[in-house]
Amino acid sequence: MTAVLALVGNTAKAQGLKDVYKDYFKIGVAVNQRNVTNTQQQALVVKEFNSVTAENDMKPEPTEPSEGVYNWEGADRIANFCRQNGIKMRGHCLMWHSQIGKWMYEGVTDKEVFYARMKKHINAVVSRYKDIVYCWDVVNEAMTDDPKAEDPYRQSPMYKLCGDEFIAKAFEYAHEADPKALLFYNDYNECDPVKSKRIAAMVKKMKDAGVPIHGIGMQGHYNIYGPTEDAVDAAIKLYKQVVKHIHVTELDIRTNNEMGGQLRFSRDGVAVSDSIKQHLADQYARVFKVFRNHKDVIDCVTFWNLSDRDSWLGAANYPLPFDTEYQPKLAYEYIKDMKPALWAMPAQPKPNPNRQRRGGFGGPQKPPFKPELAFPEQEGVKEDFVPSVMNQPGQQFPMVNSQGYVRFRVDIPDAKEIVVSLGLGGRGGTKLHKTYDGSYVGQTEGPMDEGFHYYHLTVDGGIVNDPGANNYYGSTRWESGIEIPAHDQAFYACRMDIPHGNVQQVLFPSKSTNTVRRAFVYTPPTYGKNPKEKFPVLYLQHGWGEDETAWSNQGHANLIMDNLIADGKIKPFIIVMTYGMTNDVRFGGLQEFTAKEFETVLVDELVPYIDSHFATKTDKWNRAMAGLSMGGFETKLITLRRPEVFGSYGLLSGGQYEPKDIKDKKQVKLIFQSCGSKERPDGIKESTARLKEAGFNAHGYISEGTAHEFLTWRRSLYQMAQLLFK
Ligand code: XIL
Repeated sequence: MTAVLALVGNTAKAQGLKDVYKDYFKIGVAVNQRNVTNTQQQALVVKEFNSVTAENDMKPEPTEPSEGVYNWEGADRIANFCRQNGIKMRGHCLMWHSQIGKWMYEGVTDKEVFYARMKKHINAVVSRYKDIVYCWDVVNEAMTDDPKAEDPYRQSPMYKLCGDEFIAKAFEYAHEADPKALLFYNDYNECDPVKSKRIAAMVKKMKDAGVPIHGIGMQGHYNIYGPTEDAVDAAIKLYKQVVKHIHVTELDIRTNNEMGGQLRFSRDGVAVSDSIKQHLADQYARVFKVFRNHKDVIDCVTFWNLSDRDSWLGAANYPLPFDTEYQPKLAYEYIKDMKPALWAMPAQPKPNPNRQRRGGFGGPQKPPFKPELAFPEQEGVKEDFVPSVMNQPGQQFPMVNSQGYVRFRVDIPDAKEIVVSLGLGGRGGTKLHKTYDGSYVGQTEGPMDEGFHYYHLTVDGGIVNDPGANNYYGSTRWESGIEIPAHDQAFYACRMDIPHGNVQQVLFPSKSTNTVRRAFVYTPPTYGKNPKEKFPVLYLQHGWGEDETAWSNQGHANLIMDNLIADGKIKPFIIVMTYGMTNDVRFGGLQEFTAKEFETVLVDELVPYIDSHFATKTDKWNRAMAGLSMGGFETKLITLRRPEVFGSYGLLSGGQYEPKDIKDKKQVKLIFQSCGSKERPDGIKESTARLKEAGFNAHGYISEGTAHEFLTWRRSLYQMAQLLFK
């Protein structure tokens, strides 16, 4: 079975567009001289196409530059190439206001003179290629583009001289020259609602009068912003009422915001990004889908040029299925595999004011973001997502729901892969995928633990923060942070009904490190109110990779204190938070880490500074030290070496004390040890039991349902604060 499938796959690959579309319509290409002389390009034409149009060489002026002087060289070369390869041609074009020798109409006042010249010209061209050209664009672009114009016709020299009779005459002469040829009226902006009605009305009027018009040519000079499938569909339906044959005669899709067949246009391209490639492929996918739906009336679809290198629009416009090296682009795959468009059509870009005169513009605009399209409903996932409280101002994403699911969205359209480090444990984070508007979205596989999490994005292998979220110092860098609302979040809420203390930055001199160092000092709301009141002090350390900002920013230490004080659960005390120099330690280097330098800074420099600048109680029984994780490790080292400085100790996810560690039991008023239930709670429980057994005032606390993260430490501080300084 696999072998058979592989075989089928290979043949499909070896086939060209013409083969894949054989049950729909012919696939044509407009060629220049190089295309039919260069062997590589010849081969491509033969492989992919079964209809050929001369891009310029059969037009009025190239074939008859002055009256009676014919130039068949270019047209013959193309016709001969087609004869040799058995490819029938679309003839383009017999009567047009452009690329026509002025000799035919200039100075002519008698329309009969013009008709005679026209008839001779048409007869000469049509007769010469009768054997190979099976259909002709007889009249090109005779309708106006101006939707407000009263006269639906283009004010061309021929029209001014003859009115619309010249159209009828051109068809009659062509029919006389080759009664078997299918004759087309050809125009651009043919999906425009106003112009399409005018085209249909004109052709109908002519046909009703017996003019031999067999088909309508839709030029198909489109862009990635339009026309919509509906517009193309509506135009085809309209033309269907009038003619039995529709050809798409000059299909190309610009990536800038111009469209149509006017010969004056900007060649400005856009930076060809992956999203532009996708938009191009999508627009081809859309129009081909509509064409296929109308295969009963459409019998040929011709690309205007073989490759981007040949395109009359310039390669910068990136308009065709083959690139400048004649290699198939993403658009080619979409056409050939009949894939549906992946994204919605982008909105028209806003004009770029700096480049307006040259027709430049700002780049594709995204369709409006609709959450319901990006995140289809999923069983078991509640649709009550709200922006994370830690988002940057005005940012919707990341979003969190009441169950703890997180949704991400980032707008990096040209990324190849985006993974968010936040996700269910051990699954490598959450991989985002591109959604309909080109942005990346994703949702965690399950609910996240309550509380605060650091995270980052890995975009194509590089680590960056989520532009939607605020940054918090962790992992030795400012990382994105997100908050999953916890059921007990009230204890760290910022309440309106209570007085708040201050967190102030102090800069203290450090002789030992020859630096000025920073600490943050929390003073309770009543601090300073009574000049005589002195406060106990807790020295509170952050973990590895964090700094002195962490306990108040993401730890909400100040809010926890304000709430405890307001609720009468504790007597006010001061908290001092400084940088523990922990980042000098690398992972795995803990064994050699002594915290000696930090001990000097903390005990010999910061403590005296605080005691001389704040209203503190300066005895050791009113001084405590605690820390989370690495800060706990430092706490243990320093408290054991300097029992005369601190009276109470706290280790939050930061190890434990054993009775044998402490020389003099009477030197310790309180030991607090904690961790999350998802860490190693047994270690805490067992050592606390041993300490109690040995007669210490020891307390163990396990934070339910949390791991080595800040909710564990917020809760730990909340518990510990109620035990300190009693
Ligand atoms: C374009 C050719 O591609 C260019 O090489 C030439 O300079 C101008 O004409 N509508 C038509 C085509 O019917 O004949 C035009 O071809 C593109 C617009």
